Amino acid sequence: MKVHSITDHIFAIHADIRSEDLFEGIWPIPYGVSLNSYLVKGDRIALIDLVRDWVGAPGELAGQLAAAGTSISDIDLLVLNHLEPDHTGWLGEFLELNRKAVIVTTSKGADLVGNFYFEAERIAVVKDGDKIDLGQGQVLQFFETPNVHWPETMMTYVSDGGVLFSCDGFGSFGALGDRVFDDEFSPEEHEFFEGESLRYYANIVASFGLFVKRAIDKLSGLDIRVVAPSHGIIWRSEPSVIIERYLRYAGYLDGQREKEIAVIWGSMYGNTEAGLQYVLEGIEEEGVPYTLHRVPNEDVSWILADAYKCEGIVIAMPTYEYKMFPPMAYVLDIFDRKHVWYRKALRIGSFGWVGGAKKEYEAKTAPLKWENLEAVEWAGAPDADTAELLRARGRELARKVKEA
Ligand code: FEO
Repeated sequence: MKVHSITDHIFAIHADIRSEDLFEGIWPIPYGVSLNSYLVKGDRIALIDLVRDWVGAPGELAGQLAAAGTSISDIDLLVLNHLEPDHTGWLGEFLELNRKAVIVTTSKGADLVGNFYFEAERIAVVKDGDKIDLGQGQVLQFFETPNVHWPETMMTYVSDGGVLFSCDGFGSFGALGDRVFDDEFSPEEHEFFEGESLRYYANIVASFGLFVKRAIDKLSGLDIRVVAPSHGIIWRSEPSVIIERYLRYAGYLDGQREKEIAVIWGSMYGNTEAGLQYVLEGIEEEGVPYTLHRVPNEDVSWILADAYKCEGIVIAMPTYEYKMFPPMAYVLDIFDRKHVWYRKALRIGSFGWVGGAKKEYEAKTAPLKWENLEAVEWAGAPDADTAELLRARGRELARKVKEA
């Protein structure tokens, strides 16, 4: 990877991680993810956000620092906006290689430096609005943005260039290659990254939508000309695109969602699948777009991303040993953790000799505050009356989604 200049004093460094490892041990990254760090050079040198020792990331960091005319041992200040180990896992080694650098972080961040890396001395705690002058017009200013993504999180701003170092905020999955700026990608590539930014948001940040809104509100007085996150594209041409996108994502929590339906289904012997086709016919009659996600075949990462933006949800599953189809129980568990709230929902499904999914489904969706249409369950294969009922429920759900 190459080092990229953002201004005469600020450089972007990144490592593309392409691995079969799961991000956070849960989320697939088939298209990779970037770990971005930033170098700010005044009379003193600051490095903003670090890496973990993952697929050669520390080597990339060292090589790109050298290309920018500096080195690990030259760093005076290591700003840690966020302590999750994707940005800090290599801290112990860094502190061994560099005996002078001081870690700059929030008070809660300092606690985590101690908990994860047993370092308590080389830390400067900063508070909301504090500034550190590096010389040559490079002044770091810090803004606490708790829970974007962890409670200790802050963002760092340099007014010379209007650069906001936002760490997880405004981030995305997807490796970058040798281009890093928004104006270097084609519309098709932006479409890809938009999908990966939604998946990243839904997987990583979704539970904290309220805090995303607060952070954006807090930063609204700044002249932000570059959004420089620690995952994904750096936005120097149209930073408002990613800020507005994140505001839209945050609004999915309790505001306007897309008038679309995420259809999540599982089937043991094809009978639930057969019934689902009638629901889809009803939805199509009303002209509402929908997407299909089969469990357990599709990873919940993508199901969550789609459900996060959709106003409507269909849960189609058979009864399994008196209860829900097990992979669907996992999906609803994830929906609870990630606050997939206030949807219009329809449950359908077949059973063999007795039903039983209802009780578990109702318990699992109660905290989600979903508006559930009357469910349709049938024994065995769907007969003509069931088919008509399923079609009607599909129409009813689609109409509710359109009216929302
Ligand atoms: Fe990229 Fe919450 O760490």
